[in-house]
Amino acid sequence: MGREKKLIIGNWKMNLGVHDASLYLHRLEKLVKVHRNVEIVLAPTMLAVQTLSLQIDRRQFRLAAQNFYHRDFGAYTGEVSAAQLKGVVDYALVGHSERRHIFNEHDKDTRAKVQAAIRNDITPVLCIGETATEHSADETRDVIHDQLAAGLTNVTSEEASDIIVAYEPVWAIGTGINAKPADVTKAVLAIRSQFKHLFGSKVAEEVRILYGGSVNEDNAADYLMLPGIDGLLIGGASLDAHVFSAIIEKAHKNSKKDT
Ligand code: PGA
Repeated sequence: MGREKKLIIGNWKMNLGVHDASLYLHRLEKLVKVHRNVEIVLAPTMLAVQTLSLQIDRRQFRLAAQNFYHRDFGAYTGEVSAAQLKGVVDYALVGHSERRHIFNEHDKDTRAKVQAAIRNDITPVLCIGETATEHSADETRDVIHDQLAAGLTNVTSEEASDIIVAYEPVWAIGTGINAKPADVTKAVLAIRSQFKHLFGSKVAEEVRILYGGSVNEDNAADYLMLPGIDGLLIGGASLDAHVFSAIIEKAHKNSKKDT
């Protein structure tokens, strides 16, 4: 998948049950036009993934898992694997800050999950970003470097161009505090330069990079127009179908190829 489309992912987190997820989908289907320059991805609760996969028109929407376990099958009570999600979702979030900070996922977990996703033909959306403390200590670049290095260990150049990176400063997630576009641009440059170092210039050009953290209808365009940004990862604002569809329209207008 190239960078010609803007990618908009709605992460519903632990909101909307199966019934409400279906209702939301019907509402969104009516609100959103199919644009060839925008790809829309929904990340519902695991419980609703299967139901929505039977309901969605894949020309209009794709699905992402919010989480999964890195082993394919076995005695892992309560877990769902990438192997079980294969064919049901196209994408999966890996290393979201809530997984890292609430559920203590470490670099070795994100690394194993990136591998599991790739092994099962699911595109990993590797989420990275610094905490407030790291931000004030001017450590953003180092954090980005370390989280990328950990998540991308064992990834080949061929696999790397299909990975998506979501830059989400932890202090901007769910807080209403936005990262400055200039800082996001710096982070994106750092990410591409590390991809170049690890996998070469072609992959660094091809990798898709998203911004996430308190994106809403009013600020979405500020990020979408940044050079090097290929889309958005949206939490809170994705729960309102009207707001989410308004953001999708902004992505359509800000996409390079206005088809
Ligand atoms: P937010 O969440 O849009 O509510 O800040 C973003 C995310 O967690 O991916």
